Amino acid sequence: MNPTDRKLRKLHVVTHGCQMNVYDSARMADVLRPLGYTTVNSPEEADMVIMNTCHIRERAEEKVFSNLGRLRVLKEEKGGEMMIAVTGCVAQAEGELITQRAPFVDLVVGPQAYHRLPELIAQAHRKQGAVIDTEFPAEQKFDHLPDTAAPQGVVSFLSIQEGCDKFCSFCVVPYTRGAEASRPVASVLAEARRMVAQGAKEIALLGQNVNAYHGEGPAGSTWSLTRLLAELSEIEGLERLRYTTSHPNDMDDELILAHRDNAKLMPFLHLPVQSGSDKILQAMNRKHKADAFRRIVDKLRNARPDIALSSDFIVGHPGETEADFQDTMKLVRETGFALAYSFKYSPRPGTPAAGLGQIPEDVKDSRLYELQAELRRQQDEFNAATVGLTTPVLFTSKGRHEGQIAGRSLWLNPVVVEHPTELTGEIHMVKITRSNPNSLIGTLISKEQIAA
Ligand code: 5AD
Ligand code: SF4
Repeated sequence: MNPTDRKLRKLHVVTHGCQMNVYDSARMADVLRPLGYTTVNSPEEADMVIMNTCHIRERAEEKVFSNLGRLRVLKEEKGGEMMIAVTGCVAQAEGELITQRAPFVDLVVGPQAYHRLPELIAQAHRKQGAVIDTEFPAEQKFDHLPDTAAPQGVVSFLSIQEGCDKFCSFCVVPYTRGAEASRPVASVLAEARRMVAQGAKEIALLGQNVNAYHGEGPAGSTWSLTRLLAELSEIEGLERLRYTTSHPNDMDDELILAHRDNAKLMPFLHLPVQSGSDKILQAMNRKHKADAFRRIVDKLRNARPDIALSSDFIVGHPGETEADFQDTMKLVRETGFALAYSFKYSPRPGTPAAGLGQIPEDVKDSRLYELQAELRRQQDEFNAATVGLTTPVLFTSKGRHEGQIAGRSLWLNPVVVEHPTELTGEIHMVKITRSNPNSLIGTLISKEQIAA
C-alpha cells in the first residue's frame, strides 16, 4: 500500500477465550496500525470487526455464532459497509462452516496467518465471498510479527510458545494451534525489554505448553524456560515474572527450583491436572498418574512454601465413574488450591474422546456442582488466610470507586486499597484487612511502619 492511500479506519476487536487470544488480538491491532487502523471500543463505530474466537468447549463455539448474528444486523444497518473477520481457533477448525452458516463474513483467518492480515484484507476488498486462510505455513508466525507493539501496561503478556504435541483425548489445541513451537530467545528478550521500557513491571509468559519451551538461544544452543526466566530476571525495572499454562510432565526439577532461586518469579503456578483418577488420566492421554502430580506439588511447596496453586479440571470425560470422580475430589481435598477452573467435558469434533460413549448431562452437572463447591471453599479459605499479612502489592490502576487504587498480590489476587493518589506501576507493602470472594482489601503500610 502506498502511504498516501492511507485513510483513517476504525477497528474493533472482540476477544473470546484464553490469554493467548488476548495477546493475539493486540498483535493483530499492531499489524493493522501501519495501514491506518485505530482501535475503537464498539462495533457500531467500526469499519472492521475482528472476532477472535475460542473452540475449546462447545459453549465457546455457540457464542461465536450468536455474536456473529448480532454483527450481521449491524452490517446490514450500515448498508454492508463493515468488514467482518473471524480469527482464532474456530476460524482454524471450522473455516468452511463459518462461511456457510454466516455468509456475511468477509475473512476467516487461522492463528498461524495473522501476519498476512493486510494482504488478506486487500484480497477481501477485491473479492466477492469470503477469503479463507487457515493454512499451517512451515515458517513460524513469531518471525513475522511487527516490532512496534502498543504498550499493554504495568502487567504485560508475552507469547513465547505456541501449539501442542500432547494430544490429550479431549482437546482441540493440537489441531487448531498446530505443532508445538518455541519463539527464539533473542526475539523474546527484545520484546520483554521493549515492554519494560514501555512501563511493564510484571511480565506473564504465555504458551499452550509454556513449560515445554525450548527456544533457540545464542550459538546454536537451546534454552529451557528456566534459563529464559533467569535471563529475563536480569532486566532492570522488571519486578515480577509469571508463566502459564504448564503441563505436569514438563515440570522438571530445574523449573521447580526456579521458584526458590529466581527472586522475580512469583509464588503462583497454574498447573492443570484435569482428573485425580489414574484410569481417567490414562484415558485422557495425560501420560502421568495422580501421584506424579502430588509429588510435583510436594517439591514445589518444599522449594517455595508460600506458593499458591491453581489448576483445571474436567468432569464427565468418557469412562468416568463415580469412583473416578471421587478420586478427583480426593486429590482436590489433599492438595488445596488457591484458584481453579472446572468444566463439564464437552465433546469436540475430531478429538479422540468425542467418539466414545458419553456421560449423561445430569451426571456431569451434579459432579461439577460438587467439585465447584469444594474449589470455592478452598479459594475462600486461601483468601481468608491472607488477612493479617503484610505483603507487596503491584499497583496497576485506579480503583472502581473514587479514592481507591487497585493492584495485584503475589498470588494474583486483585487488591483494593483506599488511597488519594494513583500509584500505578509501583510496588508497596499492604496489610490485608479483609477478604472477599474474588479480591482482597488492605491498607498501605509505610516504610517507617515496616521498620517499626
Ligand atoms: N471439554 C471440557 N473442558 C476442556 N478443556 C479443554 N478441552 C475441553 C473439553 N473438550 C479444559 C481443560 C483445559 C482448559 C483450558 O479447558 O481443563 O486445561
Ligand atoms: Fe490440550 Fe493442554 Fe493437552 Fe495440549 S497439553 S492437548 S493444550 S490440554
